[in-house]
Amino acid sequence: MIKISGLTKAFGNKVITRQLDLSVNEGEFLAIIGRSGEGKSVLLKQIIGLIKPDAGTVIIDGQDITTLNKKERQKVFHKCGYVFQFAALLDSLNVLENIGITQIEEGKSLEEVKPAVVEKVTSVGLNLDVLDKYPDELSGGMKKRVGLARTLMLSPKILIYDEPTTGLDPITVRLIHELIHKTHVEQKVTSIVISHDVEVFKYATHVAMLHEGKIVYKGPSKDIWECDNPYVHQFIRGLPEGPIKQIGFV
Ligand SMILES: Nc1ncnc2c1ncn2[C@@H]1O[C@H](COP(=O)(O)OP(=O)(O)O)[C@@H](O)[C@H]1O
Ligand SMILES: [Mg+2]
Repeated sequence: MIKISGLTKAFGNKVITRQLDLSVNEGEFLAIIGRSGEGKSVLLKQIIGLIKPDAGTVIIDGQDITTLNKKERQKVFHKCGYVFQFAALLDSLNVLENIGITQIEEGKSLEEVKPAVVEKVTSVGLNLDVLDKYPDELSGGMKKRVGLARTLMLSPKILIYDEPTTGLDPITVRLIHELIHKTHVEQKVTSIVISHDVEVFKYATHVAMLHEGKIVYKGPSKDIWECDNPYVHQFIRGLPEGPIKQIGFV
C-alpha cells in the first residue's frame, strides 16, 4: 500500500533520512519508533508530501507522490483517504462544527452533517453533550478524540498519527492507544503511529525503528521484546547508548 525507496532528505548539510526504505502493507498497524530528533516527523511529512525529498520515491496506491504537485497529491490522498491525524481544532468553532468542517465547507448545512457527526462522536467514545462545547472546554484526551472523529468523517484508508499521546497522563495514554486500536480494527484501515511510547507495541502488528536516517529494523510487534537488533534492544528498554555488550549485569 505504501512503498518508500531510497528516501533521502537533508537540511543544509544535515542528512535526516538517508536512502531510507520502508514498505507498509494494507491492514498493517505499524509503530515507528526512534529517538527524539531522529527524523520521525520529517519521514512522515515526506510520506504525506509536506516535505519534498531530495531523492527517492514514495509510492502510495501505485503513484509516486513525490512527483505530483499539490493538487494531484490531494487527489491521491482523497482517493485513499490519507489523513494526517489529530489535527488541531479551531477554537472559534464548537465540536459539531469542528468535526463536520470539511462537509460544511463543501456546502452542507449543520443539520445535514449532524447524523454523521453523531455517529463518529459515538465511535470515538464521547457523549453527545460535547457537540456544543468549544475546544477550550475539553480535556487533552477529549480533544484527541474530537480530532480523530473529524478525520473519520473522511472515511480514510490510511491513518497516520504523529506522537498521539505526547503530553497526556498515563491513563489517557492507555485510552488513546485503545481508541487507535479500536479504530484500526473497526474502520479496517492501515495505521501508522509514530511513538516513543513502548505501550503502543501491545496494539501494533509491526514495529519499525528509525536510526541515523534509516529503518534499521522492521518486524512483527509480538517478537519485539526478543528482538536481537541492538538498536531496538536498547531503545525499548531505555538503555543508555553504547555497544550492547557493555550493558547488562556484571
Ligand atoms: N523544516 C526543517 N528545517 C530544518 N531542519 C529541520 C526541519 N524539520 C526538522 N528539522 C530537523 O530535522 C531533525 C529531525 O526532526 P524530527 O523529524 O522533528 O525528529 P523526531 O520527530 O524524530 O523527533 C531535527 O534535527 C530537526 O531540527
Ligand atoms: Mg516528531
